[in-house]
Amino acid sequence: MKRILFVCLGNICRSPLAEGVFRHQLAERDSLDIEFDSAGTAAYHQGEPPDERMSETARRHGVSLDGQLARKVTDADFEKFDLILAMDRENLGDLRRRAPKSAQSRIQLFRSFDPEVGEDVPDPYYGGADGFEEVFEIAQRSCAALLNHLEDR
Ligand code: 4NP
Repeated sequence: MKRILFVCLGNICRSPLAEGVFRHQLAERDSLDIEFDSAGTAAYHQGEPPDERMSETARRHGVSLDGQLARKVTDADFEKFDLILAMDRENLGDLRRRAPKSAQSRIQLFRSFDPEVGEDVPDPYYGGADGFEEVFEIAQRSCAALLNHLEDR
């Protein structure tokens, strides 16, 4: 049993998409017993569903984000999750500052699993439609590699 948390700033674009793509891909690998969730470092959008632009992009690719609601990272998350995956370096820094020493080694960049070069999942919130599509492609590659990694362990 593994527990994975995807984290971005608002928990309405990038980390909910990572969660939805992970759920979608995990369903095709019935050998894995994994619990997962997403959260934001900020509480601006607490209780809200994902951004409609992100949900629409996901839907176009056959991935549903229905039922997911934004929440902020809690202290308990640092105890519960085995892997805490930050969408960008700012999220990573925020998590590292907040987390206890015992959790530091479980926090890393989501894109450390991306087979293509890159560190941050670019924040699509203030940009155009291309940004949401790019987030989808990054999440698709990174989640697939993450699942391969978990299957090999
Ligand atoms: P996310 O995107 O961190 O991928 O959920 C954002 C959502 C909201 C804001 C910024 C980024 N905001 O400033 O409200």
